[in-house]
Amino acid sequence: MIIKSLEQLNSFSKKVADRLKKKDYIFLVGEIGVGKTTFTRFLINYLQKKEGLKVSEVLSPTFNLLYEYDLKKYKIMHYDLYRLKNEKELNNLSIFKENEDAIKIIEWPKLIKIHISDKLEINLDYTKYDNVRKLGLFGTGKWKNFK
Ligand SMILES: Nc1ncnc2c1ncn2[C@@H]1O[C@H](COP(=O)(O)OP(=O)(O)OP(=O)(O)O)[C@@H](O)[C@H]1O
Ligand SMILES: [Mg+2]
Repeated sequence: MIIKSLEQLNSFSKKVADRLKKKDYIFLVGEIGVGKTTFTRFLINYLQKKEGLKVSEVLSPTFNLLYEYDLKKYKIMHYDLYRLKNEKELNNLSIFKENEDAIKIIEWPKLIKIHISDKLEINLDYTKYDNVRKLGLFGTGKWKNFK
């Protein structure tokens, strides 16, 4: 799929957001600066509006590894695992143990090897045009045929 602008990315993020349920995972894969956090910001801000909540800042969790957003009915946990070095550090985060009521959005998920039942992996790629990105979607479970 070709995403021609930030506006189109915003529309796409809403489509994903409308399907999200507790226990879903979104993996965001792609080079530095390609748009993973921007996608997440659109998605979280859209859900905040939809739930009648105040729209908040959505910053990159590069240094904190995790930022959480309380959407009342559920939580969104936004991870950035770029700085993790190995599986031990990954395990220390207990991503898969707690917070069964959460939706988890994970940038730089490459250390994660376990199978997840409902997961949408979004691959983002640069193109030769500044604001244009190529998106690849790879879903498991309920996300299998998502387009
Ligand atoms: N169509 C587009 N989709 C996504 N981002 C775009 C698009 N066009 C321009 N941009 C810009 O590209 C930048 C993407 O930065 P962002 O922080 O989202 O990247 P990232 O993938 O999260 O990087 P990092 O790996 O460092 O976390 C933003 O400045 C955004 O405005
Ligand atoms: Mg980012």
